[in-house]
Amino acid sequence: MKLKISQTQVKDDLAAKKRIDELADAINYHNYRYYMLEDPILSDYEFDKLVKELAELERQYPQYVREDSPSKRVGGAVSEKFTQVKHTIPMLSLDNTYSKEEIVEFDKKIKRFLNYDMDENIEYECELKFDGLAIELIYKNGIFIQGSTRGDGITGEDVTMNLKTIKTIPLKLLKDISYLEVRGEILMDKENFKKLNGERLKEGLSLFANPRNAASGGIRQLDPKITAQRNLIMFAYGIGECSKEINFKTQFELMNLLKSLGININKNMRIANGIKGAVDFFDDISRKRESFPFEIDGVVIKVNDISLQEKLGEISKSPRWATAYKFSAKQEVSVILDIEVSVGRTGILTPVAILDPVNIGGVVVKRATLHNQDEIDKKHINIGDRVLVERSGDVIPEVVKVVLKGKRSGAFNLPDKCPCCESDVVIDGAAHRCMNELSCPCQIKGAIVHFASKRAMDIEGLGEKIVDRLVEIGLIKNVADIYYLRPGDLSNLEGFGEKSEENLLNSIEKSKNISYDRFVYALGIRHVGEHIASLLVRYFGDINGIKNATISILSSKFGIGEEIGKSIYNFFRLESNLHVIERLFKAGVSPHANIAKQGESGLIAGKSFILTGTLNDFTRDEAENLIKEQGGIVEKTVKKNLDYVVAGFEPGSKYDKALKLGLKIINEDEFKSLINK
Ligand code: IVH
Repeated sequence: MKLKISQTQVKDDLAAKKRIDELADAINYHNYRYYMLEDPILSDYEFDKLVKELAELERQYPQYVREDSPSKRVGGAVSEKFTQVKHTIPMLSLDNTYSKEEIVEFDKKIKRFLNYDMDENIEYECELKFDGLAIELIYKNGIFIQGSTRGDGITGEDVTMNLKTIKTIPLKLLKDISYLEVRGEILMDKENFKKLNGERLKEGLSLFANPRNAASGGIRQLDPKITAQRNLIMFAYGIGECSKEINFKTQFELMNLLKSLGININKNMRIANGIKGAVDFFDDISRKRESFPFEIDGVVIKVNDISLQEKLGEISKSPRWATAYKFSAKQEVSVILDIEVSVGRTGILTPVAILDPVNIGGVVVKRATLHNQDEIDKKHINIGDRVLVERSGDVIPEVVKVVLKGKRSGAFNLPDKCPCCESDVVIDGAAHRCMNELSCPCQIKGAIVHFASKRAMDIEGLGEKIVDRLVEIGLIKNVADIYYLRPGDLSNLEGFGEKSEENLLNSIEKSKNISYDRFVYALGIRHVGEHIASLLVRYFGDINGIKNATISILSSKFGIGEEIGKSIYNFFRLESNLHVIERLFKAGVSPHANIAKQGESGLIAGKSFILTGTLNDFTRDEAENLIKEQGGIVEKTVKKNLDYVVAGFEPGSKYDKALKLGLKIINEDEFKSLINK
């Protein structure tokens, strides 16, 4: 089976027939991989492109449409391990669109079909497009009696016992309805997905590529106990056959009716008067996408009025009255051209895949992290392999798995000498580490880049490239040297002019006035991230306080554990580090206390907070800074003794945990009055 079909130009009948055959075979094969093996090797985007191309060719050349054409089925396949269930009404699928232009065209087509004027507005109901597995639930006299997967749209698999383990599926409706078929999506939330893959990693099992595959695998289990452990969720979005008591005139009414029966629906729905409102909904949801605790792959836009839906009907396998407006692809397939090994500021060797450039959701990705040797071994990755690459939010793209091995068998091995300074590499837990801490040029460069970075000293213009050059020509050897650069030092360098030198020197000068927690974070003490840096400042006040703390105070009283305690203690025992700090102060770096020391007054001094969801008036950073400035502590995980949980819009799983633990949950207004804003 060819993995990728080249874009051949269809010039004549014969070529068209050949291409239709090629596409039909490929789509059938990828459907089988997706539904039966739960191991897709094409991204949704690539797959949808094949489907669209086939549909277009079949429209032009109906004489060549094959009996087994995938366009005649909804997709999916039925496994023989479950009893088959024939759906009373076929479970259709949706047409996919990826751009605003296509959405506007969808609206125009509807108006043409209904003989509407182009300037009239159609009312749409907009929902999330859940990225999971479609199912149908049958209720008789209000009791859940059978549940099935969509299968090929006509026939699905009986997974009743498994569905019964899902807590968001009611076993009994709130009203005694004689017959109702509910349709919806089964999902695994992101947190459970991470947990599950973490456990599988420990047990040496293969990892799921995404939450959708994990959910699908969870439902198609012969043992319902395994399904129960997966903590799946269900959101309903429609119905099949129903008895007379079910009355509704619009999709929106239907959703509310389902809700009134105790069926789980998601609250992110909107009525849009006209297609512009639907596009606004898409834009709004795109911005919030990462904050949802589960994966969505777009929004679904449905004509709200049921009588119009009936008039519009369906074409082959999808309704004319609805479409999926999907986000650009997040996963794509590419080839690993090379594997580079970089050495970070802490000496850890990180393998990075150099990719055949690939567009993922509008961004050209050329590099993706391979994390560490364990991950490479587990995924059997090597140069020349064809791999699935994922980009999500601001996270560095990563290689998810190999879809086709290249010529090199086995997995790539990290070198045993540091690629930067040739010293020995030591295996330290999951990490391969260069131990030449003080003079490995890569570690020095990394430490300086970290020091100058936005969340540390924020020296604008002192990025990786410039640091590389300044270290290479010996102009700076450690972070203190930055403050001893003088006019004329840089302007002679290639690419630097007087203006760019002046700009850089100005931003260096500006950085001298920095808050104390950022200064401590900038020092790059191993294990001291932003959170611990601010805790240290809150507890010990300043550098002298931290420097004089003993390991036992740091580890036990201060409560950060021995490993971190030792690392902080040892940092201040190294003469070279103390010398650098002294030179920083001498050069005029003067960190100011932005955090009330413990015991000092502050409206919320000593109180601990956790933030979840989106706030209206502050970004996450702003809210965290306000808490810290007033002596509060920002925690990252929900603990029993937390003082406040600040819940914004769409709070995540921290909120559920806080509820369970009975913690004090406050909303944005209460938070504002607490911090006097
Ligand atoms: S409505 C006739 N609404 O997308 C239309 N589907 O490609 C039936 N999906 O099989 C589907 N979220 O599994 C609808 N809010 C939503 C949805 C949704 C996810 C899935 C569903 C369906 C597939 C269509």
